[in-house]
Amino acid sequence: MNIAIMGYGVVGSGVAEVLKKNNASITKRSMQDEMKVTRILDLRDFPGDENEALFTKDFKDILNDESIGIVVETMGGVNPAYDFVLDCLKAGKSVVTSNKELVAAKGYELLKVAEEKNVNFLFEASVGGGIPIIRPISQCLAANEIDEIAGILNGTTNFILTKMINDGMSFEDALKIAQELGYAERDPSADVEGKDACRKICILASLCFGNHVYPDEVYTEGITKIALADVEYAKAWGGVIKLIGRATRYGDGKISAMVSPAFIQSHSQLAGVDDVFNAILVRGDAIGDVVFYGRGAGKLPTASAVVADVIDCAKHTERRKFFGWENSIADYVVSYRDIKHPFFVRASYADEAAAKQSIADLFGEVEYLTYEGAAANELGFITAAITQREFDEKIAKADVQVGSVIRVTDY
Ligand code: HSE
Repeated sequence: MNIAIMGYGVVGSGVAEVLKKNNASITKRSMQDEMKVTRILDLRDFPGDENEALFTKDFKDILNDESIGIVVETMGGVNPAYDFVLDCLKAGKSVVTSNKELVAAKGYELLKVAEEKNVNFLFEASVGGGIPIIRPISQCLAANEIDEIAGILNGTTNFILTKMINDGMSFEDALKIAQELGYAERDPSADVEGKDACRKICILASLCFGNHVYPDEVYTEGITKIALADVEYAKAWGGVIKLIGRATRYGDGKISAMVSPAFIQSHSQLAGVDDVFNAILVRGDAIGDVVFYGRGAGKLPTASAVVADVIDCAKHTERRKFFGWENSIADYVVSYRDIKHPFFVRASYADEAAAKQSIADLFGEVEYLTYEGAAANELGFITAAITQREFDEKIAKADVQVGSVIRVTDY
């Protein structure tokens, strides 16, 4: 089986490396005589690279090469990846991608074309890096109705938060290391602003709940506003702060989906997930909670998931692997303003008694938190579970200056 790779960056070069290193076992598991990369598309030059002879800058060299049966797309971004993938599927080639932006934006359309053409469009590496999650949800957990998915879905932000919390490292220094290690997106604001985690929760929600969820339907907040004081209040509460992507299905068939920093109880399985590791909790009606854990970013972990999909494509040349979801429907995703949870608030005050009285009048009983070294004239408290709508109305009337607001989970 001849394979092409589009995009020879961190992941694409990792795919070539793994296909070469483990070629004998990969070929055997693929039930092929040969598994060989014969073309690599990239606009950049790689003088001296061991695959130098395979490079092309012209997509048509892949599209028109009938000997290529599987195309790996590791370019990233929606354009031109979408056009290239679409053309490959239409030409009867199976496509494997690690591109979460593409799957979150165009997954439904591309899966439909793959179905029509009886080829495979697989994207295990698009969520959780090297962690098996797409295949377990679509196959191993297929007997379940899944009600909830929640997880640490971005390695870069988890790496940054871990370095800040455990080593007192600055945000900028931690981000620089994450970039050097190949974890961060080309535009790291996609990581730190939560967009990357948003794309991943869209893919998971689409897969688990059956209709495409688009990124613009998902409320998304990153980690750029997290202060070390918030970390200390979380400790005082008995937990940690993590960037969490979550999606829930309700009894009426609607769903919610959100990405935001959250307080996680220290006994939660998600609390001890540090550095570049990701963890994804899936709550099924038969299985209960299952947690998938592993390296969520990086060259070889991500290549591991891509190559597994390549093997699957090679094994299913005659019969398409069936999985996918339906198109989006109106009013399917409820507004984040109607989702209920407790809120942590860090705020400063001019008059402590007046501040606490206004909080009691507006929120009723709250849990006050404190830690040694907290700033003067500052308080931290946790409300009961209320909707964002109610919270916004109440906090605007409180006799305090709000520093930060972080949602509190019960995972
Ligand atoms: N930038 C992503 C992350 C890469 O840090 O998780 C893996 O999708």
